[in-house]
Amino acid sequence: MEKINSLTGMTDLIETKADENVLANKVFQTEKILKEIFTNYAMSEIRTPALENTNLFKRSVGDTSDIVNKELYTFSDKNDKSITLRPEGTASVMRSIIEKKLDGETHKLWYLGPMWRYERPQKGRYRQFNQAGIEILGYPEGAPEFEMISLICELNRKLQIRKPLIKINHLGDSNTKKLFCKALVDYLTPMKSNLDEKDLLRLDSNPLRILDSKNPNTIEILKKAPSISDYLQDSSKELLKSIQELFSDKCEIQIDFNLVRGLDYYTGFVFEAISEDLGAQDAYLGGGRYDNLSAQLGGKDLPAIGMAIGIERLALISYQENKNRTLISFIIISSNSEAKAYKISHELRSINKNIDIDVQLSQGSLKSKLRRANKNGAAYAFIVGDEEIESKTVIIKPLNKEDSDQSTMNLNEIENFIKNLS
Ligand code: HAM
Repeated sequence: MEKINSLTGMTDLIETKADENVLANKVFQTEKILKEIFTNYAMSEIRTPALENTNLFKRSVGDTSDIVNKELYTFSDKNDKSITLRPEGTASVMRSIIEKKLDGETHKLWYLGPMWRYERPQKGRYRQFNQAGIEILGYPEGAPEFEMISLICELNRKLQIRKPLIKINHLGDSNTKKLFCKALVDYLTPMKSNLDEKDLLRLDSNPLRILDSKNPNTIEILKKAPSISDYLQDSSKELLKSIQELFSDKCEIQIDFNLVRGLDYYTGFVFEAISEDLGAQDAYLGGGRYDNLSAQLGGKDLPAIGMAIGIERLALISYQENKNRTLISFIIISSNSEAKAYKISHELRSINKNIDIDVQLSQGSLKSKLRRANKNGAAYAFIVGDEEIESKTVIIKPLNKEDSDQSTMNLNEIENFIKNLS
């Protein structure tokens, strides 16, 4: 029978007990640590559906963005309604807050889940990937900006990120944006013949995005282009400086006046964190302020700022070692008293919640079960046969090589032994 494989760019993540370097293990561990950080920052979880009305993304992420233009997974449902697998989380969060009439209040929210973008897969770029995001709603520019950078520094520290660099910029108010875009278009128009098709399109529809061009010709031309810094208000520049200064002892922050984001809803402060260890897809998180999105989606005026973290990319550059929990492999070598032995494992599990007990469910020789225990990274094998059931004892066999003498303990001794494990 022909086998069925997963779709291109969609990966399976399967935890492997014995090898902590497997990407899946790192992804799951990273998710746990991120959830702890979000909780430490007093954020609340929000979970929205994976499928949304297609127009939600057109009106938020934007008609001119690559995401909406080329990368959406859009289908007609059985009722011929156009629906889309979410390419990001911000639009859905805002839709939900408006729909629940919560757009008059302040919120600190986090989410974690799969997103879909029809991109060309490569290292760190998938068609289905996992994002963790936070959205802080209802607060004008100021403290929430510091909160974002503080959280990034904290996750860099906790996950021991390799070579992290935070880039920050400010897109100004709508007037700044208008004046700067005009200056940029005026500068680039006489050089149109040197621009490629993609940049020509951007010149028409969203000139700011040209600053993100990967074309070496365009990059050269941009060296002499007007800079947004010439148009920014002093308060915006001061914000960038004070963020850079405030956190300079905690993480490396660079003001980059060419930093623009690929989504249309941003209005003021924007940022990305990159690591050169990621290669071409070097951004492991990005975000910024989007004060107009609520009104754009039919809600009240609700200032907002947020960011999303690419979990797979973060896992790729995290030095964080899996905090290995102690694993006990529980081996039953009797078929007559299997049920009684099983009951012992049940009792032992409740003694110390930091200890994991892997009851070996397969049939087989003691030798093969010990081999499996070693393969799974167990610290001890607990062995129970007919004799042990009879005498209410368990054989404890340490599995690390230096200390491999086994001993027999009664149930009281075992209880103490497990209590003292960490
Ligand atoms: P974004 O920059 O499009 O922003 O995505 C955030 C992060 O998701 C990226 O920095 C990257 O790490 C990861 N990512 C994006 N595409 C892929 C992919 N194809 N494969 C693997 N990882 C990927 C947003 O999504 C905004 N919603 C962020 C935000 C929240 N802004 C305000 N609030």
